[in-house]
Amino acid sequence: MPNETVLSGIRATGRLHFGNFMGAVRHFADLQKPGNHCLYFIADFHTLTTPGNTEALERNVLDIAKDYMAAGLDPVQSSIYRQSSIPELAELSLYLSMVQPFGELMRIPTFKEKAKKHPDSITLGLISYPVLMAADILGPRSTLVPVGEDQVPNVELARNLAGRFNSVYGQTFTLPRMLEDMVRVPGLDGEKMGKSDSDNAIDINASPSEVRERYRTKGVTDIQRVRKDDSGDPYNRCRSVYPMHEMLSPAEKKGREIANSCIKGTLGCADCKNMLANKISKILGPFQERRRALETQDSHVREILREGGRHARRIIRETTAEVREKMGIKVPY
Ligand code: TRP
Repeated sequence: MPNETVLSGIRATGRLHFGNFMGAVRHFADLQKPGNHCLYFIADFHTLTTPGNTEALERNVLDIAKDYMAAGLDPVQSSIYRQSSIPELAELSLYLSMVQPFGELMRIPTFKEKAKKHPDSITLGLISYPVLMAADILGPRSTLVPVGEDQVPNVELARNLAGRFNSVYGQTFTLPRMLEDMVRVPGLDGEKMGKSDSDNAIDINASPSEVRERYRTKGVTDIQRVRKDDSGDPYNRCRSVYPMHEMLSPAEKKGREIANSCIKGTLGCADCKNMLANKISKILGPFQERRRALETQDSHVREILREGGRHARRIIRETTAEVREKMGIKVPY
């Protein structure tokens, strides 16, 4: 594979959960290899599309930066930054908005969902969310964008936007590829594990007993299985616990030991949940240890974000200047 400019981001709406960790950030860490240029940021501008966490925003940005680092993002190999370090992104997003058809924005699924849930608070910022994302992606001329499935339409839009810009103003952007082999992590209720829904997520900080308790009380299994020795249906009716087992253990995928014991009625849901909770805690343990060591390192983490921001800004500033010129605006700076 050729050298890549890898870029991805996460909004700063609270701490990461196990789903972000397994589904995204671990893959970000894997992409840090010699030859790759990795940019991982915290999308604090995008966070403003959900108003109301003014006080918490700075705290959340630092927390996510620490979560990133504890999960293996290394500031020596990757640039870690906050989006707002680069005011040129707002300018670039303005230019890109001039070639972006409005109708397409209205058809983005994440927009439609939010608009349905909160029809009274559709802001221009929410509508142009994907255009700002396109600026994030195209500004550093990313070639590879690892994202979860919910972000696929947004990255698709960025690709189209790049193509459209090129055809109007001449070859400027190479179209980034999407890396979408990241797994869908099942939440406790069987839906995708999501940050804003606290009833379906495992907190990345959860202690082993908390993880066990979450699964005991909220983890959904085969609801048609009443008694332990009933035969369960792990593949179709167990929407949370079994899919997570499958995701976490390659051995299970091969041997199907858990699935078979469930079908035979020899492994009950309570034990199955405890086994799963132990697996999760085993993965989280080393992360939590590294995370604890960063707890008191605010100024160190701020410095990393500043440094990452300076680096990303240098690149994005050049792209923005090129775009500006191509569109005919000559400013003397
Ligand atoms: N929209 C993404 C999220 O909700 C965050 C994001 C912003 C992003 N800009 C990006 C992801 C660019 C990938 C590339 O988490």
